[in-house]
Amino acid sequence: MNVLVLHGPNLNLLGEREPEIYGSKTLRSINEDLIQLARELGMSLSIFQSNHEGELIEKIQQADVSGILINAAAYTHTSIGIRDALLTRDLPFVEVHMTNVFSRESYRHHSYLSDVAIGIVSGFGANSYLLGLRAIYGNLTQIE
Ligand code: DQA
Repeated sequence: MNVLVLHGPNLNLLGEREPEIYGSKTLRSINEDLIQLARELGMSLSIFQSNHEGELIEKIQQADVSGILINAAAYTHTSIGIRDALLTRDLPFVEVHMTNVFSRESYRHHSYLSDVAIGIVSGFGANSYLLGLRAIYGNLTQIE
């Protein structure tokens, strides 16, 4: 069972980016935690971060995976292109946000991904990713 983990723009700066909002954990450390959990669950991960919408879309188009865990970051709120790529693949995906986007600015309340995701995890900091990975595992193995 292979899952694609996608991180969108500015997430490469986690740890130094607005730490009062996003915490002090780096993306590398989040990825290490994800790899460890995936190993425990018997899954393998392909992990990719980009600040470019087109690169994220190409990864979605090309990935040989059974599901996707995605924090599209700001593209969540703007990108019909990423939505269309996810719909084209017809793969189960979980939308992740470290922050509770609904407690933030109103322009973060709309997502182009949520209504076609199997679910959303938002507001648990770095743990949102681990909860999201468990959710996609549950979906892929039909343990609800
Ligand atoms: C985010 C929330 C988005 O609104 C924001 O643009 C991000 C990160 C989160 O993980 O909380 O870059 O996706």
